[in-house]
Amino acid sequence: MKPPIVKSLAAMASLGIALGATGAQASPEQDRQDFIKYYTTKYPNIKIEDYVYGTLAFDTDSKARAQYDAVMQSPPYQAVLEKGRKMWETPLKNGKTYADCLPNGGKNIAGNYPYFDDRAGRVVTLADAINACRVASGEAAYKLGDAATMGTLAAYMRSLSDGMLMNIKVDGPRALAAYEDGKKTFFRRAGQLNFSCASCHVQNAGVKLRTELISPAVGQAVHWPVFHGSDNPVELQARYASCFKTMRHVSAPIGSEKLNNLEYFHSYLSNGLPMKASVFRK
Ligand code: HEC
Repeated sequence: MKPPIVKSLAAMASLGIALGATGAQASPEQDRQDFIKYYTTKYPNIKIEDYVYGTLAFDTDSKARAQYDAVMQSPPYQAVLEKGRKMWETPLKNGKTYADCLPNGGKNIAGNYPYFDDRAGRVVTLADAINACRVASGEAAYKLGDAATMGTLAAYMRSLSDGMLMNIKVDGPRALAAYEDGKKTFFRRAGQLNFSCASCHVQNAGVKLRTELISPAVGQAVHWPVFHGSDNPVELQARYASCFKTMRHVSAPIGSEKLNNLEYFHSYLSNGLPMKASVFRK
């Protein structure tokens, strides 16, 4: 099969979305602006604020958005959120709660993650911060990407940050190196199909590929986890893993440095957009 994708590392670079390896290094803020410029030039009538709705922002069928709004009025996954709330409120082994352990009682903080921890020398995701609390309180860490534990807790915990604007910071050379590594993963073509994340979520954003409309990368990181039905919260890195599978490419494990750096870069692109947990996706 020939991929219906423009040949494009060079095209991306000429758009100003320079690749660490080939072009001059742009600042994260320059990258974000370049992505927005690319999308808004192609789709001048769609507001960036609406990108948080993913493909719905591009769906010409107005019924799709109405359906989404109706589902979101009374989400079918409420029981999972309730379970997550109980997990959040249950004291850990040392008697403390997650709220005692996380900054600001765990409220309005999700948009600060992932961040680069200078002391640890690595990107720390919200899941890492939750696990650090668990371990410090005498509990075992949850398995990253496990829907029944971390996914369920995160679905509730993230809802305490609804409305917060994504606020990823890249300060200092080591943070920038992690960001650049994530950017490289995003633009790297791989797998039998020779696709990169950008092949679909930049060049083909707003386009129907086979039966599915494709969402833009800007706005993708703010609304996790997503539910496709009444159970099973899907976290952001689990979605990365399934997109790698679409690319017929082996994903690095959830929680690995590769995916954490990818999440760092990818989340930066959504800076300034409001967080919302959890949302329904078909
Ligand atoms: C072959 C095309 C293709 C490639 C390549 C691809 N994706 Fe996707 N991706 C999709 C489709 C289709 C969906 C579901 C529709 C949508 O939301 O865009 C999706 C969904 C997503 C979503 C969820 C969007 C939402 O709002 O629910 C994220 C995040 C994502 N992809 C990230 C990535 C990343 C990161 C990469 C690279 C590792 C990647 N994708 C590579 C096709 C692709």
